[in-house]
Parts: sequence; C-alpha cells; structure tokens
Amino acid sequence: MAPLCSRPWLDLTVESDGTFAPCSVMDRATEAGRHFRQTTLEGYLASPELAELKAALSRGERPDACGVCWRDEAAGGWSVRRVGPEGVAAYEEVHLKISNVCNLSCRTCAPTSSSSWVAEEARADLKLHAPARVVDLKRDGVLDSLWPVLERTRKLRVTGGEPLLSPGFLALLDGLEARGLPERLELSVITNLTSLSFRGVDFVERFRRYPNFFAILSADGAGSAIEYARSGLSWPRFVEHLDRVRHWPGVIHCVVHVYSLLSIPDLVLAAWRAGKRVHYAVPFNDLLSVQLLGPQERALVLDRYEPACDELLAQGVPRDAISDMWRATVGLMHRRTLDQAAAGRFKRYTEELDRRRKTRFADTFPQLASWYAGLPEVTEGSRSSPER
Ligand SMILES: C[S@@+](CC[C@H](N)C(=O)[O-])C[C@H]1O[C@@H](n2cnc3c(N)ncnc32)[C@H](O)[C@@H]1O
Ligand code: SF4
Repeated sequence: MAPLCSRPWLDLTVESDGTFAPCSVMDRATEAGRHFRQTTLEGYLASPELAELKAALSRGERPDACGVCWRDEAAGGWSVRRVGPEGVAAYEEVHLKISNVCNLSCRTCAPTSSSSWVAEEARADLKLHAPARVVDLKRDGVLDSLWPVLERTRKLRVTGGEPLLSPGFLALLDGLEARGLPERLELSVITNLTSLSFRGVDFVERFRRYPNFFAILSADGAGSAIEYARSGLSWPRFVEHLDRVRHWPGVIHCVVHVYSLLSIPDLVLAAWRAGKRVHYAVPFNDLLSVQLLGPQERALVLDRYEPACDELLAQGVPRDAISDMWRATVGLMHRRTLDQAAAGRFKRYTEELDRRRKTRFADTFPQLASWYAGLPEVTEGSRSSPER
C-alpha cells in the first residue's frame, strides 16, 4: 500500500526554532507531533518519531499530528498532503522557516512565527500563547549545517516569520548564489509583502537572479478588514507593492476567516488588477472559522457576495476565479455550523486582542456587530489560540 502522504520521505521542514520536522504544517501540540525536537539532520533521520510516522502512514493510518490535512480535506479539499514515490535519495522539497522575525502580529498567527507577537505577549497580563523566543536560523547556526541538503534539493520554500525582514534570508540568498544554485533551484517565498527591501537589498532586483522564482503573497481580505486581521499592515501600501511585483510569478494566499470573509471580493479584484489569482486556505483550527456565523449573518454574507460576483464579472475577472472564491467562502461557511461554545471562544480571543490593540471588532465589522454582541461569554475552553 502506498503511504497516505509521502512528505516524510520527500520533504524536509526546518522550523523557525531550528528543529527538524517531516512537514511544514505538522501539529506540534499533538502527542505524535510534540516529539519532533531534533536539532541536527542526523538526529532527525535516526529518530524513532520519524520511523513511527512513516510506518503509520504506510499502514494507511491517519496520525493526529497530520490533523491539519485531514481537517482541510474534510472542509473542501485544500491540503498540502502529497503522494509520491518512496525512498528518494535527496529531498525533493525543503521548507525553511528561516526565522520568526516579523513586523506584523496577525490575529491568525502566534509568537512561534512572529517576533511582534513575542513582544506583545511579553507585555500582556493574560497570555494567549505558550512563550517563544526570537530566533533566526543563521544566528542559531542551523543554516550552515543545511548546505549539503540544500545543494541537492529541487525546490526550496522559504517562510517565517517574514523572510524579507530576516538576516538569515539574506545569508541564504548569498549562500545559494555563491554555490551557483539559483539557475536550477525552484525558490518560492511566502511573504506579507509589507517590505520589498532590507539592509540595502532590493528584493525586486535580487529575485531577477532566480529564473524559477515563485511568490506566495499573504493577504487575508482587503481594506480596513485586512488591517484589523493582519495588525501592522497598511492596505494602500500592500496594493502599491502588489503593483511593483506584478511581474513575479505567484499567487495571493488568503485565509478565509470571520475577519476576512466580507472583504474577500475586494481582494479578488485587487489581485486581478495585479495579474494574480487568489488561493484560499482555512484557519488551522475552528477558533476564527466562518462556520461560527449564524443564519442571519450567513444571509448577510450572501447579500454581499451575490452583487459582488456580478461586479467582479463586469470588471473582467474570469468566471472560474469567481467560482473559486464562492466555493472557498460561501460554500465553506454553509458546510456546517459550530456551536455556541466555539463562538464564545472566538469572542474571548477577539476581545482580548481588541483590548490590547485599542481596536473594536464592531467598528471594523459594523454588519456583524449585533451577532458579536450576542455571543456568549466563556471563561475557558480547549482551543483559544489559532495555532496548529
Ligand atoms: C506564518 S506566515 C509566514 C510568512 C509571512 N510572514 C506571511 O505572512 O506570508 C505563512 C502563512 O501562514 C498563514 N497562516 C498564519 N496563521 C494561520 C492560521 N491560523 N491558519 C492558517 N494559515 C495561517 C499566513 O496567512 C501565511 O500565508
Ligand atoms: S505576517 Fe506572517 S509571520 Fe507575520 S504575523 Fe502575519 S502570518 Fe505571522
């Protein structure tokens, strides 16, 4: 039997804390995921955890540590799961979470991926996440040990933190170029697109050296909604940068959640104007899910989307891009309804962040204000953080 997923054989992920893992979306909070803590490649390859995960997937089992894929697939088919040949000599794809240095503190994110979140949590009395430190694979010496792997891989996917603000990322580019790798490597970068230069490097110019470059540009919604969800981002500046990188092959990556839902048609239009398609993802867990919305809010979402689809069509957006949007938003929302306790956890999380950031959910989303006001107050619950 072919294993249910071949990522543990074909891919290597290096987390921003310098630990090795078989997959970039593995759930570290589960029993199976928690034990991937090796900080050397040799230790990781010889670890019983890796052997057990491969054995379980080969038996056709669905380990809890791979829950992100099982949930994404159940929600509508998006997942990073890959099925391919077993036993290759080199990694086909390497995922490098180069650091957790980041200028934003997105409401979907956490200190493990964002130094802005680390700083905010340190100041807060009520902690929403486990503590994390600020790391960079260059400073922590992990990058140096990876060159034998990077020299043989075909695809390198770099994320963070924000790669375009990471000293480790600059060191990575220098190292790739010194070894003559840009020509044969497929380099993809996942970025928040807030900054196109760092320490004298202009990335628009620099990526011209990489003929197989691909950009994944994160944007959860548009306008004031994205500024609320991706705290620290300026939407006009994002649109300006989108225009500067219109020649980059790439897509826009949009997480569909309560905060982004109503403004996604505006994002689709901005993406279309910049020559990009939007790819959609669901949040890692239910905390911010659009399936929290009740019947009245769902009707309101339809009132927004029906005319928006006509408008997008009139603007020249292709029909299949519009139906992708519909499936990933309205379609996802109608698939199930989460209970009141889940909605209460959403409210508690949102209220705590609003208090810290001096924002108000009802100011940004007046259409959802009465729904929000009516959500139950909960004091405890299992998933009150959006982390995997
Ligand atoms: C952690 S970010 C790092 C790269 C870069 N800073 C960025 O935002 O594109 C990588 C991707 O994970 C997504 N992400 C963050 N939190 C998420 C969550 N709770 N559920 C699903 N995706 C999430 C982001 O939207 C982004 O596209
Ligand atoms: S920009 Fe990326 S890394 Fe930074 S907080 Fe947002 S999702 Fe996390």
